[in-house]
Amino acid sequence: MEKLLFMFCVGSVFLLIGSSDPQLDSKPIFINCGTNSTTTISGRQWVGDSAADNLTLTSPGLTITSSTGADHGPLYSTARIFNTTSNYTFSVAVSGTYFVRLHFGALDVNNSIFGVTANNLRLLSQFNVSDALARANATSLVKEYVIRVTSRALALELAPSTTASFAFVNAIELVPVDDEFGLFAANYVDRALETMFRLNVGGPRIGPGGDGGLFRGWEPDDRYMLIADAGSLVTNTSRVEYASANDTRAAPLKVYETARAMSDTEVLEKRFNMSWKFDVDPGGFEYLVRLHFCELAFDRTDQRVFRIFVNNRTAAEEFDVFSRAGGKGKAYHFDYADTIETQIDTLWVQLGPELSASAAGTDAILNGLEVFKLGKNGNLARPSSRFGSGSNSSPGRASKSLVLYGVIASATAFAVVVVVVAGAVRGRRKRMVVAASAKWRSLSTVEASASGAQGACTGNRTMGGRRFAISEIRQATRNFDEALVIGTGGFGKVYKGEIDEGVAVAVKRAHPQSQQGVAEFETEIEMLSKLRHRHLVAMIGYCDEQSEMILVYEYMSNGTLRGRLFGGLGGGPVLDWKQRLEACIGAARGLHYLHTGAGDGGIIHRDVKTTNILLDSEFVAKVADFGLSKAGPGWDRTHVSTAVKGSFGYLDPEYFRLQQLTQKSDVYSFGVVLFEVVCARPVIDPSLPKDQVNLAEWAVRWERQGGLRAIVDLRIECSNESLRKFGEIARKCLADEGRNRPTMGEVLWHLEYALQLHEAYVRSGDGEAFVKAEEEVVAAALGGGGCS
Ligand SMILES: *[C@@H]1O[C@H](CO)[C@@H](O)[C@H](O)[C@H]1NC(C)=O
Ligand SMILES: *[C@@H]1O[C@H](CO)[C@@H](O)[C@H](O)[C@H]1NC(C)=O
Ligand SMILES: *[C@@H]1O[C@H](CO)[C@@H](O)[C@H](O)[C@H]1NC(C)=O
Ligand SMILES: *[C@@H]1O[C@H](CO)[C@@H](O)[C@H](O)[C@H]1NC(C)=O
Ligand SMILES: *[C@@H]1O[C@H](CO)[C@@H](O)[C@H](O)[C@H]1NC(C)=O
Ligand SMILES: *[C@@H]1O[C@H](CO)[C@@H](O)[C@H](O)[C@H]1NC(C)=O
Ligand SMILES: *[C@@H]1O[C@H](CO)[C@@H](O)[C@H](O)[C@H]1NC(C)=O
Ligand SMILES: *[C@@H]1O[C@H](CO)[C@@H](O)[C@H](O)[C@H]1NC(C)=O
Ligand SMILES: *[C@@H]1O[C@H](CO)[C@@H](O)[C@H](O)[C@H]1NC(C)=O
Ligand SMILES: *[C@@H]1O[C@H](CO)[C@@H](O)[C@H](O)[C@H]1NC(C)=O
Ligand SMILES: *[C@@H]1O[C@H](CO)[C@@H](O)[C@H](O)[C@H]1NC(C)=O
Repeated sequence: MEKLLFMFCVGSVFLLIGSSDPQLDSKPIFINCGTNSTTTISGRQWVGDSAADNLTLTSPGLTITSSTGADHGPLYSTARIFNTTSNYTFSVAVSGTYFVRLHFGALDVNNSIFGVTANNLRLLSQFNVSDALARANATSLVKEYVIRVTSRALALELAPSTTASFAFVNAIELVPVDDEFGLFAANYVDRALETMFRLNVGGPRIGPGGDGGLFRGWEPDDRYMLIADAGSLVTNTSRVEYASANDTRAAPLKVYETARAMSDTEVLEKRFNMSWKFDVDPGGFEYLVRLHFCELAFDRTDQRVFRIFVNNRTAAEEFDVFSRAGGKGKAYHFDYADTIETQIDTLWVQLGPELSASAAGTDAILNGLEVFKLGKNGNLARPSSRFGSGSNSSPGRASKSLVLYGVIASATAFAVVVVVVAGAVRGRRKRMVVAASAKWRSLSTVEASASGAQGACTGNRTMGGRRFAISEIRQATRNFDEALVIGTGGFGKVYKGEIDEGVAVAVKRAHPQSQQGVAEFETEIEMLSKLRHRHLVAMIGYCDEQSEMILVYEYMSNGTLRGRLFGGLGGGPVLDWKQRLEACIGAARGLHYLHTGAGDGGIIHRDVKTTNILLDSEFVAKVADFGLSKAGPGWDRTHVSTAVKGSFGYLDPEYFRLQQLTQKSDVYSFGVVLFEVVCARPVIDPSLPKDQVNLAEWAVRWERQGGLRAIVDLRIECSNESLRKFGEIARKCLADEGRNRPTMGEVLWHLEYALQLHEAYVRSGDGEAFVKAEEEVVAAALGGGGCS
């Protein structure tokens, strides 16, 4: 049932419209229906459909003049109505992509209910205009679609839904957009879009006349904001320009001149989200969210760093408009798409604080927002039931699917990886709705832990850090008291220490003669000086006096992930499934940051394993030990050639074979970590039968056969769905070839999803019976055979 994973890169997204071949030029067509007179409305000539010579009608229908409609402008005073299925067929000058806009106004009769298709693509079904107007609290509405016309004709078919009803339309627009949406045409051959919302955030309405020839309308955003006060208005009309020539059609500059930023109460820290909520059509459609940004106030990076959430999940982290767009006043946009669960009919877009940014740099800005629905299986129509979900949420029908991907469509140097993760999850119990919001730790707990055991770190976060005297270190560790040793490794020993009267630290001291040590010590200082992230262990300082090599880190009171899996060091309690998932998510976040957020080609950790993932007092996972880390390949190269290093059992076999290192080697190791987390057994256990010695091989075999449940650590309780999702991503991480493995960003997504599934399961209450039933099914499926 699982769909595959795939990914693609987008370099540039839009073709320049102005540069198209002149002989291919096509003019927009504006048709006023039910009349033979031509009306000019703010510069646009609307030709009466009885008089237009570039369209044909399969049946004449009836023309009517509506007194109600007349109050709402000339377009709405006349309409053409059909009591049988009829086509409006337009001949267009060129095949290509068009905005197709259908205008509907109020008629004086209520029994219109009909369907519309465009070249057999279903746009509307059981469409009741009175009802739609009532829901929109409007007197007229425009349905806008982006449709690729491959022949020179566009047939709009209007079909009354019942014999007693009729179909009608007041006006029709066909506006060529060239390859404006080429991105979708290329990757979703023939998938049409419907514009659901188009907002000028923080600004006034921009009518079709103000949109540079594409005639889009941009609405104000206030009515979609959850708490309008959360966003204060920002305006700057001076020197706003497109980040690249390719962006000129994305939105008019006016959209970028106004914005909302997080309101500054000057009393509280910015610990809230700016949230917009949209009603969308249920039915499992994929939605594309296009966010328009332009920094209007700051002249530097790091002044506004924020996170973007779509439907409660992270769409982007550490988003800094200034650096992404390439400066102040640069108009830029970011695309993000997500399939919304069949039953869900709302879409949330939230911009909120970046926890790892300084308080001063925490702010967000948004200038414009568009939401598009993507067609699936030749259909764009909202399910016909009035409240949509009714007919779809019945048990037995829902097959849950989730697709998430982020796209950056930008002119800047970001060659960005677009990750599409598609997974259909089918469980025996269909009623679970994935609406769980990812559990984020509140900022207050972060501060509590920072000011507690690791207080000094916050103040001293400037990396490269503090240079300690050896006397200070000796005092901190009671002269390297063996009783304080909390870890030993190839590098040397790690002691628990105490500095500055009560601040706990971890002190790592290299073997005095270790040659390897020197290089790793230097690498570690160099790496950690560049890096700062909530999910990377912070270095407080170092000591290099008297040929000592000592590093001082924040103290992680819950030790290593491995320890907490096996109940080892300190004999503390083992982690439950939720804590394990959260630890994996944290570590994935840290690695994702290393791979993508740290410098040009990112950084490859090279020694990902459960002993290098540490847990602080709040069980926040942090990646540690950068002694083997390497700068990743730059954009021009695919890998770094290097001698093979790493830890047995976690080592990527492809890297081992080819001696070529990529980020995907870390992904492999992380996959092993994931299986270790769920099975809680050593990655190499020579005491076991030959085919079980290596955890990675053994677990993948079970996972492939759907029998992961049989090898799960018995001390945890988790739902089948959550486990399946988890196992699936772990297995994908272990693909033989690096290019078939997901990126860390993608892994992160899957893990967040697994957590949401788990939380939904916990809420559903009767977990225990469920697990038992699943176990029986697994046992039956394996029929005793299995893969030992
Ligand atoms: C079209 O124009 C003719 C006269 O030119 C007029 O008789 C006829 O009523 C018009 N039809 C409509 C639908 O307005
Ligand atoms: C469509 O017909 C109208 C009226 O006959 C004409 O003005 C317009 O240029 C035509 N449009 C195209 C794209 O051929
Ligand atoms: C549809 O309308 C035409 C013209 O008004 C009329 O002659 C015909 O009987 C109608 N057909 C139906 C099925 O109502
Ligand atoms: C309308 O046009 C479409 C596409 O060309 C065609 O399949 C359909 O049969 C037409 N409908 C009518 C009523 O002519
Ligand atoms: C149509 O419906 C609206 C509200 O549903 C009602 O106010 C109006 O009177 C109806 N019109 C006719 C002609 O039935
Ligand atoms: C369309 O919706 C209106 C308002 O909700 C309702 O009064 C009317 O009966 C509906 N028409 C049909 C044909 O269902
Ligand atoms: C509908 O719109 C009118 C005028 O635009 C407004 O006064 C009214 O409050 C709106 N009603 C609702 C329910 O939003
Ligand atoms: C608006 O932008 C201009 C040009 O970048 C800048 O000089 C000016 O200070 C900005 N105004 C505000 C209020 O930020
Ligand atoms: C912002 O929204 C996201 C997604 O719903 C949520 O996880 C996060 O806790 C919110 N942040 C704040 C500060 O409320
Ligand atoms: C703009 O688009 C063209 C054609 O796709 C592409 O070659 C060019 O690199 C793009 N420019 C930028 C700055 O992205
Ligand atoms: C997102 O979270 C809010 C509460 O924070 C909740 O009301 C909403 O249903 C959630 N949306 C989705 C799609 O999960």
